[in-house]
Amino acid sequence: MTAIYEMKDIKEAAEQLNKGELVAFPTETVFGLGAMANNAAAVDKVFAVKGRPTDNPLIVHISHPEEIFDYAVVDEARKALITQIIKVFWPGPLTLVVPIKPGIFPDNVTGGLQTVGIRLPNHNGTQKLIAEAGFPLVGPSANLSGKPSPTTVDHVLHDFDGKIAGVLNSEPTQIGVESTVLDLSNPEGVQILRPGFVTKEMLESQIPDLHVEYVKLSSLETDDKPKSPGMKYRHYSPKQPVIAISRDKLAAYLALHQTETIGVVASDDVLATLEQTYETYSLGDTIKTAMHYLYGALRYFDNLDDIDKIVVELYPNVAMHGAYRNRLIKASSETIE
Ligand code: TXA
Ligand code: MG
Repeated sequence: MTAIYEMKDIKEAAEQLNKGELVAFPTETVFGLGAMANNAAAVDKVFAVKGRPTDNPLIVHISHPEEIFDYAVVDEARKALITQIIKVFWPGPLTLVVPIKPGIFPDNVTGGLQTVGIRLPNHNGTQKLIAEAGFPLVGPSANLSGKPSPTTVDHVLHDFDGKIAGVLNSEPTQIGVESTVLDLSNPEGVQILRPGFVTKEMLESQIPDLHVEYVKLSSLETDDKPKSPGMKYRHYSPKQPVIAISRDKLAAYLALHQTETIGVVASDDVLATLEQTYETYSLGDTIKTAMHYLYGALRYFDNLDDIDKIVVELYPNVAMHGAYRNRLIKASSETIE
């Protein structure tokens, strides 16, 4: 049985973690699958239960911003930069990859890398849970590997009921896509390894003198030792093929594929113009609502047996749409724009 912990049960949830059990926790992005980051056997369980490739390192979640300096090896200049960044963006959807002091985290946390991704999630209950547990928690998204990340407690239970000790109860997550991963471990420059809610533009406008690059997708996907190992795997995919398509091409695509049973995921104004009845899922009316609903939409159709294909609105290629486009394109078998 997987327990649903309320705020009053945080001590009990922390005890389970201390015993080496897994407890899922909410964040502002998606739910994480928590285990003590100093317990190699518990971390092994995380990989086993998710079916996650072991070369894909985990993010370590902390409960106080300054804690990053207990684990990171940084010179004075990097320390000053990190101090500025965490002042503005933590708690929040930004993971910082930093070189680590040896001997703190077991090798299965870092995938054998000399760096670790650290983040302070913006969720009160989860911050309390981490503090109560007494050590940072690893927290990959709490989904079976390859499936869309969970944005509700129901999504977590769908994948893991009976397989983990518990989940900390909460509202659906606010943002809906995972954190931005920012690599601060390379003296040559600062790179975004995974796009998220925090964009290059937001970072550069808030931090004077910071220059950020996006890591080239080609090197993410093909290198033997890619900078962010997670980016090379197929992700976020329901059982049906997903077609990512710009709004101006969507109606023509549906007209051409009338013999298939298609599920349509799009913004309200696009759904309002559909000429036939389809099984639909709304993305709301802004990029924020689209990020919020995307994984729920993919999971909704994943659970339906009579849908052949899912057609999802692809937002145009501008900075603010980066995280949404990255996740949708990774889930898709075809992109049309
Ligand atoms: O929003 C999030 O980040 C969520 C919530 C639960 O915090 N967590 C999450 O974890 O998305 P996960 O494991 O699904 O994704 C972690 C990503 C992967 O792409 C992984 O390769 C990358 O971060 N990563 C972790 N440690 C890294 C490191 N040392 N160097 C480069 N990339 C790293
Ligand atoms: Mg994930």
